Amino acid sequence: MQIQKIKLEHFRNYTNFELEFKKKVLLIKGKNAQGKTNLIEALFALSIGKSFRLKNLSEAIEWEQDYMRINGILSDKTDLELFYSTYPRKQKVSKINKVKKKLNDFVGNFLSVLFTPEDIDLISAAPGLRRRFLDILLSQVSHNYLVNLLTYQKILKQRNKLLKAVLEKKSQENELDFWDMKLAEHGTEVIKERRLFFKTIEEFLKKQYQNISGKKDRLELSYLAKIKNLEKYSAKLISHRKRDILMTETSLGPHRDDFEFILNDKPINSFGSRGEYRSSILALKLSEVNFIESQTGKKPILLLDDVFSELDSERQKYLLEAIQNQQTVITTTDDNVLNSNTENVQVLEV
Ligand SMILES: Nc1ncnc2c1ncn2[C@@H]1O[C@H](COP(=O)(O)OP(=O)(O)OP(=O)(O)O)[C@@H](O)[C@H]1O
Ligand SMILES: [Mg+2]
Repeated sequence: MQIQKIKLEHFRNYTNFELEFKKKVLLIKGKNAQGKTNLIEALFALSIGKSFRLKNLSEAIEWEQDYMRINGILSDKTDLELFYSTYPRKQKVSKINKVKKKLNDFVGNFLSVLFTPEDIDLISAAPGLRRRFLDILLSQVSHNYLVNLLTYQKILKQRNKLLKAVLEKKSQENELDFWDMKLAEHGTEVIKERRLFFKTIEEFLKKQYQNISGKKDRLELSYLAKIKNLEKYSAKLISHRKRDILMTETSLGPHRDDFEFILNDKPINSFGSRGEYRSSILALKLSEVNFIESQTGKKPILLLDDVFSELDSERQKYLLEAIQNQQTVITTTDDNVLNSNTENVQVLEV
């Protein structure tokens, strides 16, 4: 699935902008603060319905304006649109072929893998960032995952509210029975799909990493699930209930899951070199492409924001080879990126 055209109206510094994708690779060149990342952000929004650097996409409305529109046409003519307004009323609308859709039906039509210099933090950052990574990736390939995740999050909020009410003696403890059951039901689905992901990515990751490092290294992701035995999910919730009530939060479940990067049986965040961090993230990003393709039969678009400056020449070369048959958008301030390979490349100067 490729994108053929993107149109932006009042999106950040783009008042009115239109671009046709004519070649496999789009290279966006320009000095700092010209709108290179903004364009990547718009493409990512068409894919995920979110920004990767804002909590709320409506903040990307052009200054002094009260609405924005991002519109994309895919190679099969699917027409995707996101519209946000603040005035005369607050609105968030997603449309496919001009028909309003819920965001969970919007996601999954335009598949993408985003790679930014910040991704290297994924290895050592707080667990929330890694969960976000999982959720974004799995939501794209599985509608079932996204629906269960959103339901899980809703129920979790309800349960936490009820925990507080129980603590304040405004509700009875046994009212939790229903929410525990529901939480376990949807949590189980989320965990199952995460398990499947970790199993499927294994081979891709190993191969990508070995190709990058040129050695027999073994890169793995180890799933650190709070609930290990799904049969005992509800029982575990009940056994933690007293504690949960005191803390007024749910201590167990996929919202607390994490995973670890392991290189040759050792956690990278404790023992890895900077170069190994870089190789691991590069391997992960390319494995994401492999994973999406294996699950959907479609190739995602690869969005590379400023990553070439982060990679040494060997890794740059590897990445360039990997994107040969792959729609890719690359931003750079560097004039020399992709000099050798121009026939597949469309250049946009901003
Ligand atoms: N809501 C907005 N309305 C209008 N302009 C905005 C808005 N948000 C950001 N901008 C402009 O966009 C510019 C940043 O664009 P962007 O992050 O895409 O730069 P860039 O080309 O990627 O730069 P760099 O090379 O430094 O990464 C800011 O300088 C700002 O002027
Ligand atoms: Mg930028």
